Amino acid sequence: MKNFFASCPRGLEELLLKESEHYNFDHVEITRGGINFKTNSLNAINFLLETRIASRVYKEVGTFEFKNDKKMLEAASEVPWQKILNATDTFKITCVLSRDANKEFRNSHYLSLVLKDSIVDTFKKTSGTRPSIDLDNPMYPFVLRIEPNSKGNMFKGIVSLDLAGYPLNKRGYRPFGHQAPIKENLAAALVMSTGWDKQVPLYDPFCGSGTFLIEAALIRHQIVPTYLKLQARAEGARFAFETQKWFQKETTIHGPFENLCKELLVRAKNGIESFGIAEFHGNDKHSKSIELLMEAWSTMGLPRKSLRVSTLDALKWKPQEDLSNGLVITNPPYGIRLGEKDEQLEELYYEFGETLKNNWKGFSSFIVSQDSSLRKKISLKTSSRFSFFNGALECRLLGYDLF
Ligand SMILES: C[S@@+](CC[C@H](N)C(=O)[O-])C[C@H]1O[C@@H](n2cnc3c(N)ncnc32)[C@H](O)[C@@H]1O
Repeated sequence: MKNFFASCPRGLEELLLKESEHYNFDHVEITRGGINFKTNSLNAINFLLETRIASRVYKEVGTFEFKNDKKMLEAASEVPWQKILNATDTFKITCVLSRDANKEFRNSHYLSLVLKDSIVDTFKKTSGTRPSIDLDNPMYPFVLRIEPNSKGNMFKGIVSLDLAGYPLNKRGYRPFGHQAPIKENLAAALVMSTGWDKQVPLYDPFCGSGTFLIEAALIRHQIVPTYLKLQARAEGARFAFETQKWFQKETTIHGPFENLCKELLVRAKNGIESFGIAEFHGNDKHSKSIELLMEAWSTMGLPRKSLRVSTLDALKWKPQEDLSNGLVITNPPYGIRLGEKDEQLEELYYEFGETLKNNWKGFSSFIVSQDSSLRKKISLKTSSRFSFFNGALECRLLGYDLF
């Protein structure tokens, strides 16, 4: 059993914990921005391939304790670096400090340089070659976390490897070009938080590039978020962990891992076969946004028959006449990144609340809001509130039942 950490946008930790329950991890513990857990490597990889909420999954490869920065080099050199990587490999180090460690050290860049020196010195002592730095595509994306040790009398350095080697929110379907898309894993988590029963259609009146619609489609039809990565892998691409020494040594999991990749691809392909007509509805007044949505939908390989799009003002958009229930989930413009005027936005939020009341009776609706003065303009009674961070912005997902 090894130690792992899965990170996520702040506020989603409980949802990530719930998502992880299916994997029977041991010693699961919520921390700020993620969960720690123990499990075997194959189970952690399975989670990495299927998680819709985690941003990254890390495997711990070494720890050391030290009193202050002058003592760090010596302590870090105790890590058996030669068992972790080879002299010809490439690596990169990102250092994160806990709140207490930040008070003591402040300069995380300096600490990552010390760790780099400890790796390089270890190799130089025994061979002429040494692993080199690659900031863009390293074989070993190390993360060094520094925090007080359990007794509180020293600091602990925890060295982990980012297993996928890319942020898991980057599913691979998003075209370049929309100004304010919501991150894919955040959109998936928000859809999951609504309790959507998946049998009713889903509507996004301010859909932009369609992240809610696509993530909901993947959830509804049990398509793994790594579907495009697994397809690329079938053609020769590799996840970062596959070239790492620990994975190469664990030969017993290679067969089960290959089978898992195949099984997830088959499941995704079956999911794609199971789409019905007009399950997902997107609207945005800018036709460019709708073009981006359609491009992403097609990149993901999702059936066109299941998507309905329009380019109306959201205040004029209505559900299909024969439908009396469904889920509305949306992220209206909020000014900061899109640069709209405040009064116009206040009016838009007020009118959108009225539109929901009048045109969407019988629907459940959820609005992402990061601005309290805008959300107060919606004159509907909130049935639920969920707080989370979108980058540095504190946001809420507000639920309204429309009778
Ligand atoms: C914050 S963005 C939505 C981002 C989206 N969730 C995504 O992931 O790409 C808000 C969107 O609302 C659209 N919009 C602004 N005012 C609108 C209106 N009155 N009716 C319809 N769409 C509008 C903008 O074009 C923009 O794409």
